[in-house]
Amino acid sequence: MSSIFDKFAPLKEQHAALTALGRSPDQLQFEDIISPTEAVLNGKRTILMGTNNYLGMTFDDTSVNAAIEALKTEGTGTTGSRIANGSYEGHKALEEELAAFYDMRSAILFSTGYQANLGAISALAGRDDYLLIDADSHASIYDACRLSDAQVIRFRHNDPDNLERKLKRLEGTSGSKLIIVESIYSMLGDMVPLKAFVEIKKKYGAYLLIDEAHSLGVLGEKGRGLCEHDGVEKDIDFITGTFSKSIGTVGGFLVSNLPGMDIIRFVSRPYMFTASPPPSVVASARQTLAKIAGATDKRKQLWDNATQLYNGLKAAGFELGPTLSPIVAIRLSDPEKAIALWNGLIDAGVYTNLALPPATPFGWYLLRSSISAAHTPEQIALAVEVCTKIGRELGIITLSNSQKAGVSKHPDNGSAQLNGASETHPDATSETESLVTPTGDDPAARV
Ligand SMILES: Cc1ncc(COP(=O)(O)O)c(C=O)c1O
Repeated sequence: MSSIFDKFAPLKEQHAALTALGRSPDQLQFEDIISPTEAVLNGKRTILMGTNNYLGMTFDDTSVNAAIEALKTEGTGTTGSRIANGSYEGHKALEEELAAFYDMRSAILFSTGYQANLGAISALAGRDDYLLIDADSHASIYDACRLSDAQVIRFRHNDPDNLERKLKRLEGTSGSKLIIVESIYSMLGDMVPLKAFVEIKKKYGAYLLIDEAHSLGVLGEKGRGLCEHDGVEKDIDFITGTFSKSIGTVGGFLVSNLPGMDIIRFVSRPYMFTASPPPSVVASARQTLAKIAGATDKRKQLWDNATQLYNGLKAAGFELGPTLSPIVAIRLSDPEKAIALWNGLIDAGVYTNLALPPATPFGWYLLRSSISAAHTPEQIALAVEVCTKIGRELGIITLSNSQKAGVSKHPDNGSAQLNGASETHPDATSETESLVTPTGDDPAARV
């Protein structure tokens, strides 16, 4: 008799092949978490290079203590949605603090960043509207499109001209047009040329939503992200974000300066039909958020660390993402070498994220690091050293690769490298407007 799981046979096979070459990421279990950048894995002290813990705030005393206090006084969870069970004082306070942080009119909390995108985008774009999304969007944005009744149009990754052509075709149609971009793309760490997108959104009377998941705390003098960095905050209609990276906990949000945002609370299914964030999470998020604007030294350290890692790997001859950013991805096209490098690094006490097709652009195999201000220069130097050693042993890099590789300049808080260098996807000529992508690459699986 057939099984409901039969359809997963190819995936199972792929997973078995991966495991046969060493480990599988889903089976790894850290025995001890020592700090934001170190854990014990298989009895070995291991440097965590794929943390997303950009400012290293997960062990921040004030945030930890606020969470403990909230647990004791308000309990372990809210056990329901705010629509059904009402809000706690912390929910409202955090929304006000988020709105003040961004200098926007209002903010809405969601239980995760995934749900923030799902809930905001699906609610904002209704039946007669158009969603215009970057082809390399995060899975949460693709899933939001599925939940929305709007028509979905994809434009080429980081390509404002391509977006403009698509908007031109919509001239004369009555629905609202909502453009969605991300500040720093999570797989390769490349950044959106935001000013160009802002110009287009203004020219065509469209709305612009930016997901600042990987740039909150990372970019801008006050850590508000790419919009602040590029000086375009007043031109942005909606910002979504997450507490799971720089804020060091879990949760998500939507902020906007537009009047009338509160109606989203009554139409957004991922807001209405799930339990609200627990008091301990809200309490720690409030404490960490309050420190973001003043975390200038941490931001500088973060960018120094990113520069050290990016330039170290580049000088060794590795193929990396196109832009220097705190997300540093080694690109490989040989699956066996990618998996061997990932396993070899773990054996040597360095943990990176292994990202496989179809979740990756261009069918690449990526060893992705998301660096932290809490990494020490010694940890990064060690990571580069073992990567180089194993990379050479595996024939991924050679001495002549290393001699050819140039290095990138330290961006002034990211500015020098921000907008620009984005490589062309081999399939980038596709003008398709469907959500189905060319062979092998499934952007809807982006993590
Ligand atoms: C660009 C982007 N948006 C949204 C999310 C979802 O965030 P969360 O982990 O809070 O669900 C992520 C997480 O990886 C992300 O990279």
